Amino acid sequence: MGAYREAYERSITDPEGFWREAAAGIDWHREPERILDDTEAPIFRWFPDAELNTCHNAVDRHVDSGRGEQPALIYDSPVTGVVRAYSFRELRDEVALFAGALRRLGVGPGDRVVIYMAMVPEAVIAMLACARLGAVHSVVFGGFGARELSARIDDARPRVIVASSCGIEAGRVVPYQPMLDAALAESAHRPDRLVMLQRPEAPATLGKEDLTWAEAVAEAEPAECVPVRATDPLYILYTSGTTGRPKGVVRDNGGHAVALRWSMENIFGVRPGEVFWAASDVGWVVGHSYIVYGPLLTGATTILYEGKPVGTPDAGAFWRVAAEHRVAAMFTAPTAIRAIRKEDPEGKLLEGCDLRALRLFFLAGERLDTQTYAWAGDLLGVPVIDNWWQTETGWPIAASPRGLEELPTRPGSPSVPMPGYRVRVVDEAGTAVPPGQEGAIVIGLPLPPGCLPTLWQDDERYVRSYLTAFQGNYLTGDGGMFDEDGYLYVLGRTDDVINVAGHRLSTGAMEEVLAAHPAVAECAVIGVGDLLKGQVPRGFVVVKSGLATDPERLEAELVARVRDRIGPVAALRRVDVVAALPKTRSGKILRGTMRGIADGRDEPVPSTIENPDVLEALRPLLRTPRQ
Ligand code: COA
Ligand code: AMP
Repeated sequence: MGAYREAYERSITDPEGFWREAAAGIDWHREPERILDDTEAPIFRWFPDAELNTCHNAVDRHVDSGRGEQPALIYDSPVTGVVRAYSFRELRDEVALFAGALRRLGVGPGDRVVIYMAMVPEAVIAMLACARLGAVHSVVFGGFGARELSARIDDARPRVIVASSCGIEAGRVVPYQPMLDAALAESAHRPDRLVMLQRPEAPATLGKEDLTWAEAVAEAEPAECVPVRATDPLYILYTSGTTGRPKGVVRDNGGHAVALRWSMENIFGVRPGEVFWAASDVGWVVGHSYIVYGPLLTGATTILYEGKPVGTPDAGAFWRVAAEHRVAAMFTAPTAIRAIRKEDPEGKLLEGCDLRALRLFFLAGERLDTQTYAWAGDLLGVPVIDNWWQTETGWPIAASPRGLEELPTRPGSPSVPMPGYRVRVVDEAGTAVPPGQEGAIVIGLPLPPGCLPTLWQDDERYVRSYLTAFQGNYLTGDGGMFDEDGYLYVLGRTDDVINVAGHRLSTGAMEEVLAAHPAVAECAVIGVGDLLKGQVPRGFVVVKSGLATDPERLEAELVARVRDRIGPVAALRRVDVVAALPKTRSGKILRGTMRGIADGRDEPVPSTIENPDVLEALRPLLRTPRQ
């Protein structure tokens, strides 16, 4: 039996033994004696009697064990021209000082801190400082607009907000202050204080009570690590669901540390002292797990890249960074590779980059199309590993675990289920379907350590959203199938969540913004296939009767509203004014049918349709790409 199969089977037949052993990779303040608490099933808790501090494990521990001078974090920012390395010792000192600053502002264990920052080292320092105090961070992606930020502030109710004064996009400075002001103006919750990192590209004008980062640390004393229970929350990361209200995915301290530490060596094949680079953003789960916590918990060096795959300055940026910092394994989204390939199809910009240190190339965040898989593999000459997971799980559900075994990969498949994940493909009745047949992908409970134990202060929503459709299973929201050899194929979401350039977005949230326009009677937003971004949203609106509107002007207004409220990453560029929307007899808009037609599929007309003529009238418009 191969090492993968052995590990997988052990994790299923003896989960407590498997994770007890993995827990040895972590420094505990109080060692776990009980491994799994199932007394409140279907809500499970890992390591219920243990205590630890995640920041100690990610930073201090490595200084204590002789890695103090090793680079912990390399900030490489082509948009500002700065490259700066922080050793584990420097990172510890900066984190301890900022933790002291937060403590002076009243932040203690369990308090929430919202972090709304660009990809700057202070974002990582702020996250780790929260972990150090036992406080709970909630990072909001800089590409989100006021409505998204406000929803997160009201749900997390932070004591403090830590922000940077701007983000820097290719050729454009994005001031964050207007977004913050607009978000706070519509939030019911008032944080006590705002700490602003002033960036020279666009400093913010601060209010009387606000502090700059420099002021906050000037008077602070370094704070020590505060032990917390393994089951206490480390962070909340909001993610898009099908409704406009984001879901507050909770990550605990203990299960998270154990799972990420295990995944770094066993899935990503990265050892202490090596360099790992996840070219994502700390606003997404990939950034939390594999820019910040995974590599640092392992004692590896992580890269914080403030730039894009293309345009900062060109499509060779990734290869330059990987070569200059001797990256051993890197991780990005397929869309980034498609963007590079579009600009540099023959990979000429790779020439002269010494990538001899690079052993493995991981791709995730959206479906990996076979052309991108093949192109990256041919160009780089290293294994390309597709891996499938979600904000909710925090680490791969399916992958080829390179630290365990060189399991061959197959185009189109993120390989096999990882230890702890009882992955099944089921039909509508919840019965497992045979290999080759598509169905809903579910995971048998309990989920392994590191996965969400619940949603922030909302067990009821957690159970309703994920655990009710198929009793005893977690609903992933993805559809797919297994092949005869147990390789999983993930074919796409079965709900209205869409994935735009590796960014998970809710069509429901966009619909709420469109519907709020005074001229709109009803609307639908669907995700349609896009060669570069995987999917892009498309809107359809019906105008209130009797209103004379100019469709072009209305479209421009609606596009601007979505950009402003949800953020530029929503990338809604096309909204068509239509006479009516196709619906079922019970009044549900036939979004799935519209999506199928727009993607060029031969979509059957559903038997439940109320107004087949409306669908027929819409068909040519759905089929016409315009842009
Ligand atoms: N702050 C402010 N604005 C942001 C932003 C941020 N952090 N991130 C993106 N935006 C803006 C962009 O500037 C762009 O604005 P524009 O409409 O004025 O051009 C808009 O949001 C859409 O951005 P994006 O989706 O990044 O599209 P793009 O066309 O600028 O670039 C790619 C396309 C493929 C290069 C880019 O999407 C990419 O790098 N994707 C990888 C995503 C990724 O790593 N995801 C994490 C999961 S692993
Ligand atoms: P997020 O929570 O932002 O990480 O997005 C998770 C969703 O992205 C999943 O539910 C999938 O729909 C999609 N996804 C992520 N990785 C993959 C992958 N390797 N293959 C197919 N879909 C993926």
